[in-house]
Amino acid sequence: MFENFKVPANLMPSDPRFGVGPSLVPVEHIENLLATGQKLLGTSHRKPAVKNVCKEIQEGLTKYFNLPSGYEVVLGNGGATFLFDMIGLGLVEKSSVHFTTGEFSNKWYKSHNKIPWLNAKEVGVEFGQGINPEVTPGYDMVCCTLNETSTGVMITGVPDVDEDTLLAVDATSGAGQIPLDMSRVDVYFFSPQKVFASEGGFFVCIMSPKALKRAEKLYDREEYFPEIMSWKLAIENSRKNQTYNTPSISTLFMLNEQIKRMNALGECEVVEQARAKAKHVYDWANSKDYLSCYVEQDQFRSIAVATINIDDKYPAEDLSKVLRAQNAALDIDAYRKLGKNQFRISLFHNVTLENLKKLTEIISLAIESEK
Ligand SMILES: Cc1ncc(COP(=O)(O)O)c(C=O)c1O
Repeated sequence: MFENFKVPANLMPSDPRFGVGPSLVPVEHIENLLATGQKLLGTSHRKPAVKNVCKEIQEGLTKYFNLPSGYEVVLGNGGATFLFDMIGLGLVEKSSVHFTTGEFSNKWYKSHNKIPWLNAKEVGVEFGQGINPEVTPGYDMVCCTLNETSTGVMITGVPDVDEDTLLAVDATSGAGQIPLDMSRVDVYFFSPQKVFASEGGFFVCIMSPKALKRAEKLYDREEYFPEIMSWKLAIENSRKNQTYNTPSISTLFMLNEQIKRMNALGECEVVEQARAKAKHVYDWANSKDYLSCYVEQDQFRSIAVATINIDDKYPAEDLSKVLRAQNAALDIDAYRKLGKNQFRISLFHNVTLENLKKLTEIISLAIESEK
């Protein structure tokens, strides 16, 4: 289907990257990297030029999230998946409870469940439904996912946990544009290839004083775990504006560019823009009889990743291929394992409302031309 559909020239978006990660990296940021010439790429990450980029990232995020005093921004290589294990090995004393809403939150649960000395419990809902984390007696870490990228479900709040419990949030695809009370969160981590428009293979982990204390308590735990996953080394290096092992400098640079861009607006404005884009996409889905919002409970509908079901008569995969071939829209396919006739569209900060309006119009036009 859709073989003969041609995107009208006036509807061509100025950027076709609507994917939910890796996400749209502004060309301007790539040009800024090029302009650093011989000063940054190919220089030591233990020397001032690169260390200053790390310092700016740490200070920029502290400002953006308005972090309470004593919170630290820990940086390292490996990304969010790496942290699933690193958190399980080095920040959980005995037991973690996981509120799961899709593939990624489930993966995090599974990684803790494999650690022989841990007791991990899953509290899950059907894919497409939402759930907020709750205080759960008997567990020393409560784990949740700010934005479940596979389903487009976000959480809307976190509980107050007691002194002996850590609240850990995988914020990978929501960090920066889904607001959360950071004073309640102890471990807040993300990979930078989503809202923060950099590349993968890297992690940012914001830790509360309570989380730092827990890490310290478990530094010398007797069970073996790989040195590359040591919180001691990650924290000590981050305090010196470094990473334990060699990072990708271009990743650091682009992350810093995006933080500067977002700090120029401030979190409130970034969130407002995200809400406006989400409203446009969900209103559009609700206004067409061949579309529907995959997430039925509107309070859990993500303002970072929109999942839109399409009537089975119109194969989303076919349309996605046609749009890709014309460079009108890249990577809007549903999460592969979800098996839904669906588009998954990025509402990340760099995707403009103007381009989203064009994309939604293109999709409507294509489907209505087949009616
Ligand atoms: C919510 C969430 N958690 C974790 C990950 C894994 O991130 P990474 O591939 O950087 O390890 C992703 C990736 O898309 C994600 O969306």
